[in-house]
Amino acid sequence: MTIAELLQSATAANQLSDSPGLDCELLLCFVLGVDPSYLKTWPERSVSDAKQLEFEALLQRRVVGEPIAYLIGSQGFWSLDLEVSPATLIPRPETELLVEIALDLTLPEQAKMLDLGTGTGAIALALATERSHWEIFAVDLQQQAVDLAERNRQRYQLENVSVFASDWFAAIAVQQFDLIVSNPPYIEANDPHLSQGDVRFEPASALVSGDDGLNDLRLVCSQSVDYLADGGWLLLEHGFDQGKAVRELLERAGFALVETRADLNGCERITFGCYHL
Ligand SMILES: C[S@@+](CC[C@H](N)C(=O)[O-])C[C@H]1O[C@@H](n2cnc3c(N)ncnc32)[C@H](O)[C@@H]1O
Repeated sequence: MTIAELLQSATAANQLSDSPGLDCELLLCFVLGVDPSYLKTWPERSVSDAKQLEFEALLQRRVVGEPIAYLIGSQGFWSLDLEVSPATLIPRPETELLVEIALDLTLPEQAKMLDLGTGTGAIALALATERSHWEIFAVDLQQQAVDLAERNRQRYQLENVSVFASDWFAAIAVQQFDLIVSNPPYIEANDPHLSQGDVRFEPASALVSGDDGLNDLRLVCSQSVDYLADGGWLLLEHGFDQGKAVRELLERAGFALVETRADLNGCERITFGCYHL
């Protein structure tokens, strides 16, 4: 079959996805090791039987809902192309808002920053590319996520980031950070969305946080105050309906200038505050 024939028949077979044409192009690019422009430039080129089988195997997994990022092993975030794995969350575009807010804060030139629950390393590595003078620490409970974030760090040679395992603050020596960021698990244990779409394939350890979804946000808010410098900031990502609860958690923990920003869909997504000793 040619590239054009293969894409046409595969797109027709992949009706479960919202974007079947794009999915098929991404999978075929991955299998052939080419850029999307190659498919457009050479539609008449034939695809070997072995490559067709490889493509069809991936397509079958896509048809049952497995996220494209897990199938091709990578996801774009900020300016980075990050390796992903089922050990942790696939980085979301909404999380780039947290990176933008962090970059807008007034912080020391050589700020010390901590990313709690780093997953692929998305937030820490994006900030490291923009702020080479910051000293950045990134932790995750899951050793496989720590290893993944470390591989992503090495790929971009970001020497100002240290990645290690920690159950929130447990393995972090008491010190004062200018900025703590976290996109922790925040979904309610019985949320019906957990059995829909991409999240079915992502680990509960990256998604679920107790009956009300707030267990980890509560813990991070209350413990961060012991690790923040005077005037330090805490930035948190949360669910679209958790803005009020997170503002209250921050205010109760003693934060000032507490504010929530909405994502591009108009949903409350990032809440942050400043801590004075
Ligand atoms: C929602 S994911 C966010 C991943 C990444 N920061 C991002 O934005 O794409 C939450 C991450 O928190 C980690 N995590 C869950 N419980 C943790 C804990 N007790 N201590 C540290 N990390 C934890 C999970 O393994 C997961 O990688």
